[in-house]
Amino acid sequence: MAQLWGGRFTKETDQLVYDFNASITFDKTFFHQDVEGSIAHVTMLARQGILTEDEKESIIAGLNSIVEDVDAGKLEIDTKYEDIHSFVEANLIDRIGDAGKKLHTGRSRNDQVALDMRLYTRLQVQETDELLKELLEVLLAVMEANTETYMPGFTHLQKAQPTTLAHHYGAYFEMFKRDRQRLKDIYKRMNYCPLGAGAFAGTTYPLDRDYTAQLLGFDGPTLNSMDSVADRDYLIEFLSALATIMMHLSRFSEEIIIWNSNEYQFVEIDDAYSTGSSIMPQKKNPDIAELVRGKTGRVYGALMSLLTTMKGLPLAYNKDMQEDKEVAFDAMDTVKDCLVLFTGMIRTMRFRKERMAKSAMNGFTNATDAADYLVNKGVPFRDAHGIIGRLVLYCIDKATSIDALSLAELKEISDIFEEDIYDAISLKTCVEKRLTVGAPGPEAMNEVIRIHREYLTKDI
Ligand code: ARG
Repeated sequence: MAQLWGGRFTKETDQLVYDFNASITFDKTFFHQDVEGSIAHVTMLARQGILTEDEKESIIAGLNSIVEDVDAGKLEIDTKYEDIHSFVEANLIDRIGDAGKKLHTGRSRNDQVALDMRLYTRLQVQETDELLKELLEVLLAVMEANTETYMPGFTHLQKAQPTTLAHHYGAYFEMFKRDRQRLKDIYKRMNYCPLGAGAFAGTTYPLDRDYTAQLLGFDGPTLNSMDSVADRDYLIEFLSALATIMMHLSRFSEEIIIWNSNEYQFVEIDDAYSTGSSIMPQKKNPDIAELVRGKTGRVYGALMSLLTTMKGLPLAYNKDMQEDKEVAFDAMDTVKDCLVLFTGMIRTMRFRKERMAKSAMNGFTNATDAADYLVNKGVPFRDAHGIIGRLVLYCIDKATSIDALSLAELKEISDIFEEDIYDAISLKTCVEKRLTVGAPGPEAMNEVIRIHREYLTKDI
């Protein structure tokens, strides 16, 4: 047992209590942030005349040597310490003696842990954003190459109207772009420094909180010292954004699993991203997509867990808040792993374009266009809908498609049909005519692709 607070106790802590209370096994994750925060803190203390220059130099040198030794594997983060803060402080005192005992002047572990978690989360927000950007690059490359790759679009998982691969991927581009915007937004809101809040009521030392905030790259200090140590909103917002990213990845995964199925065969997942079966030799399974879909649950779980932890807490700090870490770290790692794997999977995935086009040609995906054809000839839409409905029934009965019927057969249902019907309901026409902003027509699509390209280049 190695703790910072033995003074007012007359008995040793029970070992089970100590272990239950300790957080070092997981808060060692932000060891580097803890030291970074301490260096900023002592730099400010010296500038304010609270520490001497010599004390500051000695503390910073000591802290840097601890980091060097841990990074080089010469010093292990020993789990006998209660938390990462105690580990660093104890090691510092070992190395530099009395000056080390001044590190914690004007600081509490409450504002210290609030700072460490914020610094670590801020980094995670950036790393997640970079991975999302890589995914968007891959999506956009596929979009650029496939504005005329036809495929069926679905509603209710039933073939509805023809679209293109560029258009389908474009939908996901929008989702992941919004995910990035959410992260930017969260970053802006969370980028204030809680250090200097002390236990919850500030301190009587003349701390310069603006200066520490500036040293650590924050936009300023937080403005209420109670809130500073009690706020985990930023983490809840981030977990919510992560849950949304997973929801998007999971929907996409689900589609890839369907497209990769024996019945569809729209895509073939690369061998490097597939796995086999121990019993069925023919199997090539889309495990990565399934795992991404499956891991969505634990990220949702992290969000629910922290929301529930926070819901009944009186101000200010409560030990309950230590529970923010394991679930949040797990969610952060999970989402980053999923983004890396998913991006790799779709970068290497092959499209079976003929099968996709063929599938778009059957299933009456041109029925809406056939109705529009009649509308253009003066038939009111509701009547046209009825006529084409009867035509579809006729085709189902004869196991054929609208475009395979002879003009005579078509005329039997409505004498408005002429030879130009065939061109009007061809797959190419059905797609190319959809030219409104956001629609799959290649001209409209190319304009959207141009906007996305600019967005990725300028990173706005
Ligand atoms: N391990 C604690 C946490 O994660 C650090 C803060 C401890 N503060 C305290 N008053 N016991 O929240």
